[in-house]
Amino acid sequence: MRVVSFANYKGGVGKTTSVVNTARALTDNGFKILVVDLDPQGNSTLTLSRKNPFEHEKTVGNLLSDKDLNMADCLIPTPAGVDLMPTNLNSYPLVSSIPPNSAKRIYGLKNKLQDLEDKYDFIIIDCPPQIEGALITNAIAASDYYVLPIEGESVYALQGVDHLIQVIDLIREDTGSRIRLLGTLVTMVDTRTNAGRVVKDAIDKYFKEMVFKTIIRRNTTINKANLRNKCVCDLDPRSMGCLDYRSFAKEMIERIDQGTRKT
Ligand SMILES: Nc1ncnc2c1ncn2[C@@H]1O[C@H](COP(=O)(O)OP(=O)(O)O)[C@@H](O)[C@H]1O
Ligand SMILES: [Mg+2]
Repeated sequence: MRVVSFANYKGGVGKTTSVVNTARALTDNGFKILVVDLDPQGNSTLTLSRKNPFEHEKTVGNLLSDKDLNMADCLIPTPAGVDLMPTNLNSYPLVSSIPPNSAKRIYGLKNKLQDLEDKYDFIIIDCPPQIEGALITNAIAASDYYVLPIEGESVYALQGVDHLIQVIDLIREDTGSRIRLLGTLVTMVDTRTNAGRVVKDAIDKYFKEMVFKTIIRRNTTINKANLRNKCVCDLDPRSMGCLDYRSFAKEMIERIDQGTRKT
């Protein structure tokens, strides 16, 4: 069981789109997948469950704040073929109610994931767009790897990433987590524009071999799929978006396999 967080403190960089579509693509390889939605906005929850996040009575907020709740009490199967630990905005007050010096603020998720034993091949976490707080700390403490989605068209794409990586490293040390950067996923790339090429070059220079070879191209089918609460491969398996996420899922597994053999 490998736990992979998709994290960037910026919103709108393609975290949720990458989480749901990578998770969906991994099921094609026969893997059992759990998505944990740790962003209280509940966008992964909406897309995967196709239900208003507030309709979910037991969320990750309940799981983290109530010692008597187990993963099995909150998990739901979804039409996308992955299981989901849902969330909604109520998770903010629930998580805030955990006492400041409680271990649950750090290890709540990690401990509860242990109940699952090896039920899943991969657990994919959609992180909130934050750099600190109990939710992101729980994600880092529980994860083996993180993928850093970065917007390939924004000239501000690299702004603040060194700080983000430093903060994750600090939390890693403080929590005894094994988390390490699996790679940078460049999203919403438009290679036809000059700006797109300039930003991609800058990202390549900065992250070098850590940049995944697969890039996620800007593709309107992805947007359409998100609007209909569907994974892009369920809306149109021949779309560029579906091909890109299939290719990324394959590359992600290869990197994890290589890392596992080295260590
Ligand atoms: N490759 C893409 N092509 C076109 N639109 C995209 C692509 N990836 C994401 N989007 C759109 O960009 C917006 C932000 O993406 P999202 O995954 O919600 O980012 P985050 O979770 O980081 O806030 C959404 O409206 C989504 O539909
Ligand atoms: Mg999101």
